[in-house]
Amino acid sequence: MQDSFGRGITYLRLSVTELCNLRCRYCMPEEGVCKKRHEEMLTQEEMLQAVRAAASLGITKLRITGGEPLVKPNIVELCRGAAATEGIREVCLTTNGTLLPQLAVPLREAGVKRLNISLDTLDAEKYRRITRLGSLEQALAGIEAALDAGFEKIKLNTVLIGGFNDDEIPQLAELTRRWNLDLRFIELMPMLDSDEFGPEAFLPYTVVTEKLPQLVPAAADGGVAKLFRLPGAQGNVGLISPVSAHFCAECNRIRLTADGKLKPCLHSSAEFPIKGLDYEGMREQIKTAILAKPQWHGALDYSHHSQAKRNMNQIGG
Ligand code: GTP
Ligand code: 5AD
Ligand code: SF4
Repeated sequence: MQDSFGRGITYLRLSVTELCNLRCRYCMPEEGVCKKRHEEMLTQEEMLQAVRAAASLGITKLRITGGEPLVKPNIVELCRGAAATEGIREVCLTTNGTLLPQLAVPLREAGVKRLNISLDTLDAEKYRRITRLGSLEQALAGIEAALDAGFEKIKLNTVLIGGFNDDEIPQLAELTRRWNLDLRFIELMPMLDSDEFGPEAFLPYTVVTEKLPQLVPAAADGGVAKLFRLPGAQGNVGLISPVSAHFCAECNRIRLTADGKLKPCLHSSAEFPIKGLDYEGMREQIKTAILAKPQWHGALDYSHHSQAKRNMNQIGG
């Protein structure tokens, strides 16, 4: 279905939980989330019904996000159900990777085609600092497990943070030579609780091309990243620039949160509830959300925080 600016909407990002086993500083507060009442959250049946309704309106790609989707007990079953939905050509999943040693193979068998895995640093102490809880060793074991499980595509997501990981840009990009995967540097987006990041943390994507002059442009893959390649590499280096060069004109996505709110745009406060609706009711609400999609997300930078009244773990990126 087309939105009111003529953009074809084919991609649904479904956040299946707000919970996470890590606490990345740019994503969620240290104390975690105040666990919502069970009745407020979508059930697995409601999520699958929403996926069917979205597919009937032209959604062909589904990305499962969180929080951390792999902490959800029934995640494999949910992915299997989504992958079997008529009209859904691709089920992809975004994860911090730490639970992939156990789950990579079951997810692949359930029909998940592609994985995006967060990795912000190659230094164990810094990994612990940015995630507040995590172990780099576990994240790297997760990446290796994903590579072994035979996914069609794996991408690493690195949130670029000035004064934290800009000194590691070359080493992180080198991973595309070591492994058959893409690595994307993502500009830090200021969300609800991003107060701990000063202006120096918000770097434009051009710092990457400045530090890696040997990058050559690579063919686009239809995603939000501008793609490049290091000579001799197996995968691409991607640059995602929501702050310095937004990509709203090509946006093909809508979002559904774990508490059942359709979000026409990552950074707008507009939300359309679907909790408790039947198939037809959900279908109508998805149409309404698509037609309410704004032309762009409004000013977004250090002094203009996202208008979404949520942190990233409650949206799913
Ligand atoms: P593919 O293109 O399918 O590989 O996935 P993706 O890049 O859309 O998904 P992923 O979950 O890996 O997100 C990567 C980064 O892009 C995250 O920081 C997201 O928050 C950001 N992102 C994804 N979609 C949008 C969008 O519509 N607008 C903005 N501003 N950022 C987005
Ligand atoms: N800015 C940019 N990217 C973010 N992510 C989470 N929070 C932010 C933020 N504030 C990324 C995660 C994950 C993806 C879903 O979104 O690193 O890879
Ligand atoms: Fe968890 Fe992902 Fe948020 Fe980090 S970015 S706290 S891994 S949901």
